[in-house]
Amino acid sequence: DFGLMSYDPAFDNTASCRSSITYIDGERGILEYRGYPIEQLCQRSTYLEVAYLLIYGELPTREQLDQWVYEVTHHTFVHENIKAFMQGYRYDAHPMGMLLGCVGALSTFYPEAKRIDDPQERHMAAVRLIAKMPTLAAFAYRHNMGLPYVYPDNDLSYPGNFLSMMFKMTELKYRPDPRLERALDVLWILHADHEQNCSTNAVRSVGSSRVDPYSAIAAGVAALYGPLHGGANEQVVRMLEEIGSVENIPDFLAAVKRRERRLMGFGHRIYKNYDPRARIIKEHAYEVFEVTGKNPKIDIAVELEKRALEDEYFVSRKLYPNVDFYSGLIYEALNLPKEMFTVMFAIPRTSGWIAQWLEMLKDPDTRIARPRQIYTGARNRDYVPIEQRE
Ligand code: SDX
Repeated sequence: DFGLMSYDPAFDNTASCRSSITYIDGERGILEYRGYPIEQLCQRSTYLEVAYLLIYGELPTREQLDQWVYEVTHHTFVHENIKAFMQGYRYDAHPMGMLLGCVGALSTFYPEAKRIDDPQERHMAAVRLIAKMPTLAAFAYRHNMGLPYVYPDNDLSYPGNFLSMMFKMTELKYRPDPRLERALDVLWILHADHEQNCSTNAVRSVGSSRVDPYSAIAAGVAALYGPLHGGANEQVVRMLEEIGSVENIPDFLAAVKRRERRLMGFGHRIYKNYDPRARIIKEHAYEVFEVTGKNPKIDIAVELEKRALEDEYFVSRKLYPNVDFYSGLIYEALNLPKEMFTVMFAIPRTSGWIAQWLEMLKDPDTRIARPRQIYTGARNRDYVPIEQRE
């Protein structure tokens, strides 16, 4: 016994901050951005409009939205040296690793962003990060595929430009399918923010040191890379591949209940009900399949969900599908490699990270992150000469 302090469960439950950006009711499966239900935003808004809403707190007027879209559209290029930086990675580098490095590198190209109290610098950092994340993501994909990088096409929509940079294979102008543009927009609205998740907490914590926004957002990319967070959508598809057929589901669920496996894409720290995002993504999956052809793994996913939701082990632990359970099936249907799935999460979460970073800066009570600990180690020991150690 090293003078172990008694464990204080409240230690885990202290709120890290006050926020007015995203509201979640985990028991009732409610998600709202700035008070607007996610269902309405998915039906009636666009990702760029939602990004504006998250960052500036209100839906933009027509003039504000046109200006915002113009600015984002005309900042999609990255410096040629960033392209050279990316070309320095191994051909098989994980795109999240490349994204992490390049977002951090952006901080060296915009040193003026260090003026984090300047409203114009804050605004430009938001514009540049939202504008350039799809470009960096597409460049990373083309790097992995050994294909020439495709520059942004400012005539296209935000999602359409991303599809062009990813899949354009000729000199002819890329014509994205509007159904895929809409599906991406909805997916990105659903992934834009989620209050104090792991990666947002990383952005707030790193940002509280008053580092520039590019470095703070790079911390969010790093946290999202983890398989328990943004990496789960990649793990879900690998899990479904391993299960292989509906007939193998009972054996897999038995292994989960023996704690030999995790049911990836299930469970959530906040949602103890169906994640509302999973429900919308499941509906959109079938709309995407009308364009791309059905991803056969969805039949295994739907049956797996059905069996789990009928199983006391999962019901008693309030384990439901989360945002990652179906999203990977859409990305796979779009012919994205699994390594790109988390990158597809990082693109839209950039607007949430920026909104949370700005809110943190504006909070007069914000101090540098410095959590306390419960010390459980040894105390007051005397140094032992090396010849006397066992
Ligand atoms: C995201 O925070 C956010 O908002 C995140 C996110 C966002 O938008 O930013 O929503 C995005 O990260 C979604 C989550 C993606 N991750 C996964 O799908 C990975 C699989 N899920 C689990 O690892 C887990 O559910 C977590 C990490 C998501 C949540 O973990 P918690 O809240 O810490 O839950 P826990 O580990 O304490 O589990 C409680 C019980 C345990 O059982 P007992 O040991 O008490 O018997 O539920 C079990 C766990 O073993 N459990 C699971 C499980 N998740 C929890 N058992 C099997 N499969 C699972 N997926």
